[in-house]
Amino acid sequence: MGRKAELARVAERVLNCTRCELWRTRTNPVVGEGSLFARIMFVGEAPGYSEDQQGRPFVGKAGKVLDELLDSIGLTRGDVYIANILKCRPPQNRNPQPEEIRACTPYLDAQLELVNPAIIATLGNFSLAYIFDKFGLPKERIGKIHGTVFTVNTIAGVKRIVPLYHPAVATYNAGMRAPLKTDFMVLTTCL
Ligand code: URA
Ligand code: SF4
Repeated sequence: MGRKAELARVAERVLNCTRCELWRTRTNPVVGEGSLFARIMFVGEAPGYSEDQQGRPFVGKAGKVLDELLDSIGLTRGDVYIANILKCRPPQNRNPQPEEIRACTPYLDAQLELVNPAIIATLGNFSLAYIFDKFGLPKERIGKIHGTVFTVNTIAGVKRIVPLYHPAVATYNAGMRAPLKTDFMVLTTCL
C-alpha cells in the first residue's frame, strides 16, 4: 500500500477513535496535514477551538504565527507536515493528560513512520517531552534547549530533532517572536 493510502487508514482510525474520553467532547478530530514526503514534521500539542471546529491543525491564532514563521524561512504548509500529540481537543484547552497521551500517540507514531521526516520540530513542552522520550534523549527544559539541533540514529535513518517554543507564546508575549524566528532559521541549516 502507498503512503497516501496508509495515512488515509490512520485518518479513518482517528475519525472513529474512542481510545480516550476526548472523543466525547470533540467536534472534529484533527489528524494532521501536509506533504506526505515532507522533510520536516512539526509536532504540536493538541487542537484548540478553531482546529476542533475545522478539523485542521494550527488554523487559529497560533496557526497564523506558524504560517508567518514558515514564510520567514521560505516554506509553505504544503512543504511540511503538521501533526499534534493529541488528535482531539481537550475541554477548555487544558493540558493533555498522561493517559490521553498514551492512548493517542500511536497515531503520531504511525504518521512519523509513514512520512519518515528527516527533521522533527517539536512545538511546546508536551511535544518536546514525548519526542525526546521516544528517541531516547534526556529530559531538558525548553528555555535551555530551544533552537538546538539534536541528532539521533533510528532504524529509519538519521534524524534531527529541533525543539521550538510553541507559536502560541508569541500571541500573548510579543517579545517571543524574535527567538522563535531565530530558532526557525536553525531549521534551514538542517534542510
Ligand atoms: N496548538 C497546537 O498545539 N496545535 C494545533 O493544532 C493548534 C494549536
Ligand atoms: Fe482517540 Fe486521540 Fe481522540 Fe483520544 S484524543 S479519542 S486517543 S484520537
